[in-house]
Amino acid sequence: MFSKHKTLGEFIIENQTEFRYSTGELSKLINAIRLAAKVVNHEVNKAGLVDILGTAGDTNIQGENQQKLDVLANEKFIQTLKNREIVCGIASEEEDDFISINSQDENHQNKYVVLIDPLDGSSNIDVNVSVGTIFSVYRRVTPVGTPVTLEDFLQPGKNQVAAGYIIYGTSTMLVYTTGHGVNGFTLNPAIGTFYLSHPNMQFPETGKIYSVNEGNYIHFPQGVKDYIKYCQKEEGDRPYTSRYIGSLVSDFHRNMIKGGIYLYPKSSKAQKGKLRLLYECNPMAFLAEQANGKASDGFKRIMEIQPTELHERVPFFCGSKKMVERAEEFMSDS
Ligand code: AHG
Ligand code: MN
Ligand code: MN
Repeated sequence: MFSKHKTLGEFIIENQTEFRYSTGELSKLINAIRLAAKVVNHEVNKAGLVDILGTAGDTNIQGENQQKLDVLANEKFIQTLKNREIVCGIASEEEDDFISINSQDENHQNKYVVLIDPLDGSSNIDVNVSVGTIFSVYRRVTPVGTPVTLEDFLQPGKNQVAAGYIIYGTSTMLVYTTGHGVNGFTLNPAIGTFYLSHPNMQFPETGKIYSVNEGNYIHFPQGVKDYIKYCQKEEGDRPYTSRYIGSLVSDFHRNMIKGGIYLYPKSSKAQKGKLRLLYECNPMAFLAEQANGKASDGFKRIMEIQPTELHERVPFFCGSKKMVERAEEFMSDS
């Protein structure tokens, strides 16, 4: 199957010169993520078989239950990146603080920091529904050979040099960008190789799918309520179809292929929404913009926001350009 397609390994080598600061370091980093993805994929796939279901009895810094697979995915990604000594720092949704990796040692010249949501959509694990991993890569802003600082992680999304996700779905895919479009690779599990199955992915200009947790409807701002009513109204190619998996990676992936909008607005219960700027919104925003889509907080571009803390949350509107623009109009009108 896929034999006529390029492998991810081949693709990385062929496109290495595209990187702005080409030293091969970013290629090695993508390679390490590819490896970690296979390891986590293996764990996710056997989730129903072994005793790794249910909660680990622990909560993360945001007071959420950590699933065992959250913890496992977190460990695998961090360990793989650490072992390869190719990054100087990692921040994870599942860790209170960032991790520094030999960055104070002057022999280590690594320039990149990685931010990860190791397991996205974790409430879906127990019910055999697609989950994902999201990653985001920046060049450190402090000098190499000195310890990484919070400043290296608190960069606006527009500084990202790479971002992507792995979707553990009916098939496992790695989708990423280094600022030259978005490419998707499908894992052939029989031989453990990712193949370029979705070159140059693009959001359709507009679409017919809206994805939002409508259970929160009464708590939404008026602009969002009005936009949802607009989506439901019979006119032209409306009503739209509602599709919500509850796993950002999966909802985004479907919307990018079919055309749609994903919304996680603020609500009277959660003033900044739920999604995390650094681990979820920025990487998805980078992918969206690279795929001809758009990402905003309802008013302004996500990637312009200057983060002030690692686990900061932000309202998120993302998807087909025309749909996001329409939603923004409803927001400003209200
Ligand atoms: P995570 O599993 O990393 O905590 O992320 C879950 C996120 C996101 O993936 C999803 O779209 C959203 O939470 C679902 O939230 P609701 O259950 O509130 O709709
Ligand atoms: Mn998540
Ligand atoms: Mn998560």
